[in-house]
Amino acid sequence: MLNNFPLWPESASTIAHRVDALYIFLLIVAGMMALLICALVIYFAARFRSRPGVRAEQIEGSNALEITWSVIPFLVFMVIFAWGAVVYFQERTPPTDATEVYVVAKQWMWKVEHAEGQREINELHVPVGRDVKLIMTSQDVIHSFFVPAFRIKQDVLPGRYTVEWFHATKPGTYHLFCAEYCGTQHSGMVGSIVVLEPAQYEAWVNGSPNGPLSATGEKMFAELGCSSCHRSDMPGRGPNLQGVFGKPVELADGRTLTVDENYLRESILDPGSKRVRGFQPIMPTFQGLVTEEQVNALVAYIKSISTAGTRIGANAMPSAVSASEGSVSSAAQPNGNQVQQ
Ligand code: CUA
Repeated sequence: MLNNFPLWPESASTIAHRVDALYIFLLIVAGMMALLICALVIYFAARFRSRPGVRAEQIEGSNALEITWSVIPFLVFMVIFAWGAVVYFQERTPPTDATEVYVVAKQWMWKVEHAEGQREINELHVPVGRDVKLIMTSQDVIHSFFVPAFRIKQDVLPGRYTVEWFHATKPGTYHLFCAEYCGTQHSGMVGSIVVLEPAQYEAWVNGSPNGPLSATGEKMFAELGCSSCHRSDMPGRGPNLQGVFGKPVELADGRTLTVDENYLRESILDPGSKRVRGFQPIMPTFQGLVTEEQVNALVAYIKSISTAGTRIGANAMPSAVSASEGSVSSAAQPNGNQVQQ
């Protein structure tokens, strides 16, 4: 019967019933309070109505009553706070071994690229029963990636990555909406999430005409000349990027931060902002020279060489050596006279 009278969107992710349970709890608490207040208003209106010969009497102060109506709502709100925080942290914390998918939003479409190289527009194919992490950015204004059946929604911002994740529980096709007004055709910025059985998904994802995203990134890493400074075989003018992802790095200004997708992205587009300690501010910005998709490919590549058993730009080394040899020795001195920016 509920299929013909859908009060609730479909539930197709592991987080969905947790969000629903919290939401139902909020509805019940709010509903009970509303009923209680309505009933009391009606009762008091009748009980203390104006009657001939009865004088109104002012009642003042009752500590017991005031403490009761302060403490009970406080406890109810603390339950909501704690419960909401637990669900929020579950929803905000992607599992570390999740399948990663890059999403680029633009007016007015969703561009998706899988680590295996498959690309799609306004569609996202995912396997059932696996954690999927979306690494998202926008190439123009703020959008929002909203999948009601998964109970997930996350703003997609220009100039940085935001992340959301889900674990689909049943195959099917689910609505994808943009949930942030982003211009004339905002309402048309929709798509679908296609959840496939694992075998179907393998067939789909391996049918890609493109190589893996990290291989695209590796090629760009050589073509853009990154590999002439970021070397793994000898000290280079830039930090060795092998194995850096997920590790702490010390910056020139003394801060330490963990290398994540946003830091890699920022270092490509604004290299001076968080320079690694011991290196000169000589890296040019790639702002405007690379597209969002190309930044994603570079990030995917640098991540791929941080997992065991991979190597950095092996095919790019020979040509890069001669191009940079002249200045490597002088520029590679760590902690020389650094130019502060
Ligand atoms: Cu994109 Cu609204």
